[in-house]
Amino acid sequence: MNNVCVFDHPLIQHKLSILRDKNTSVKEFRELVSEIAMLMCYEATRDLPLEEIEVETPIAVAKARRISGKKLAVVPILRAGLGMVDGMVSLIPNAKVGHIGLFRDPETKEPVKYYFKMPPDIAERDVIVVDPMLATGGSASAAISFIKETGVSRIKLMCIIGAPEGVERMQQDHPDVPIYIAALDEKLNENAYIVPGLGDAGDRIFGTK
Ligand code: PRP
Ligand code: URA
Repeated sequence: MNNVCVFDHPLIQHKLSILRDKNTSVKEFRELVSEIAMLMCYEATRDLPLEEIEVETPIAVAKARRISGKKLAVVPILRAGLGMVDGMVSLIPNAKVGHIGLFRDPETKEPVKYYFKMPPDIAERDVIVVDPMLATGGSASAAISFIKETGVSRIKLMCIIGAPEGVERMQQDHPDVPIYIAALDEKLNENAYIVPGLGDAGDRIFGTK
């Protein structure tokens, strides 16, 4: 699939297998979401541009490379995306964090916006949108449309599990946005839940069911 990167790193796959297990506790689920986000962030930032600098070590002057002033923002889709923020900012501590509150209307399955707060200089930043689940793709597509309205031009989407329907929707609506996932699952069920998936990510992160 174009513009889709599925991370098959053994550490990510191992952690994902525990995440899927219905017997995994809320505490462990929350920790795993954060750890997987951190590992995915490591890979998804592989293309950040570097610049050469000179550093004085205690011995001599070394030529070194550092990230060349790229400004980043992480934007979780509430609620479940919040679970991925810690892992992301532990690797990119200077990233700003914007928030988009969306929930899926249980009847129409369409996303409803209830919160939107971005850093003031968001248009100058590269944005990584995070949400553990890409099901119909309605939430991610709407979130990315709202972000684009602020003038942002470089956006990546990072999810833990994607369904083919969600990936397809994203590719139709936002072909310019690369998608990073840890697993591409089989399908959606009649309630638009990912099969086999991991259940309701928000409820499992926050213990609300
Ligand atoms: C879940 C999930 C995504 C969305 C994915 O959130 O975290 O945001 O569903 O589904 P979609 O691709 O079909 O839009 P939910 O609406 O359950 O809200 P929550 O995070 O507050 O639990
Ligand atoms: N949202 C979830 O939390 N899980 C799914 O499987 C689909 C949407």
